[in-house]
Amino acid sequence: MYKLIRSLLFRLPAEFSHDVALKAMRLCERMGVLGVIAANTKLNSTPKTVMGIEFPHAVGLAAGLDKNADYADALQALGFGWLELGTVTPRPQPGNPKPRMFRLASDKGIINRLGFNNKGIDHLLSQLSNRKRRGIVGINIGKNADTPLSDANEDYLIGLRKSYPVADYIAINISSPNTPGLRSLQYGEELDSLLGALVAEREALQKAHARHVPLAVKLAPDMSEDELTLCCSKLLAHKIDGVIATNTTFDRERVAGSRYAGETGGLSGAPLTEKACSTLAQIKRQVGDSMAIIGVGGIMTGRDAAARLEAGADLIQLYSGFIYEGPALIESALKEIAEASGSASGKRAAERTE
Ligand SMILES: Cc1cc2nc3c(=O)[nH]c(=O)nc-3n(C[C@H](O)[C@H](O)[C@H](O)COP(=O)(O)O)c2cc1C
Repeated sequence: MYKLIRSLLFRLPAEFSHDVALKAMRLCERMGVLGVIAANTKLNSTPKTVMGIEFPHAVGLAAGLDKNADYADALQALGFGWLELGTVTPRPQPGNPKPRMFRLASDKGIINRLGFNNKGIDHLLSQLSNRKRRGIVGINIGKNADTPLSDANEDYLIGLRKSYPVADYIAINISSPNTPGLRSLQYGEELDSLLGALVAEREALQKAHARHVPLAVKLAPDMSEDELTLCCSKLLAHKIDGVIATNTTFDRERVAGSRYAGETGGLSGAPLTEKACSTLAQIKRQVGDSMAIIGVGGIMTGRDAAARLEAGADLIQLYSGFIYEGPALIESALKEIAEASGSASGKRAAERTE
């Protein structure tokens, strides 16, 4: 069924079809259709506690698909264990000029340079308060494009303060390739200054709201090994709760010669699978069990999902895989994860009896 819908949607320009699909999904949810489909889908879900939050299962929606929380009920009805919404900025902004999203269909990839087009954090919060379905929500925050980098901390602090009372966790996006200079926040003094400001503010918010909201930092897959090691050591030093690996890549090696490969922006989907997984494995080696790891990037099959957990992820997120494979990917990811963890615990039990 999804293959048929996809073949129709893929005839339309990428961003337009994305909007049409989300609006249609929301309509189906309001008519009760998604609820019926979901009730008939048997998800192999095992709850998992990560960063002190009990997630209904390990597979969530990655940031960027629902930047404004306009479709949260519908996306949750499709079976995601939780949603990461945003990236949202303090003020609304239109993002980059169109066209700014390209499908590399034969590579199962997407290039986007949307540039944080969003309706602003106040809109997202009001949409969240009108939700019918109460599920786990991460709010992904960023800076406005016209805020100078030297004032970036203030934008993130606004995002933190406003989302704190509502979010289950807050994702700090310093790795989008489409906001000039943003990725420099992943390095050196800029990273220290941002993390220091956020952690200090979080301490005050924690007292005021009598609850701890975890912070997770979202990283790019394009850092060198040394840069990533340094970045991880700073995340550890500031006692950040989690890391989200990874955002989209600049790298075009896997799509060389493809139509649209020359478009500026971040590449996601199958061409990112290996890079995102090896970045995550390196992060795991650096941080061990001191921080939670959310794995994202090129998870296109159930096997990719299980492999990401084997590489060290505690949870995973889908974006491009969901576009190419539809909601059935949630089901197959959960099935493969359950099988992999069943065979791992079987192996451990066998080793114990030997
Ligand atoms: C069209 C599009 C828009 C995105 N927007 C955001 C965003 O606003 N914030 C963010 O943190 N990541 C954003 N991402 C990155 C995804 O959350 C994810 O990290 C990346 O696409 C890799 O996962 P995937 O290969 O499963 O798509 C976006 C990705 C795509 C394809």
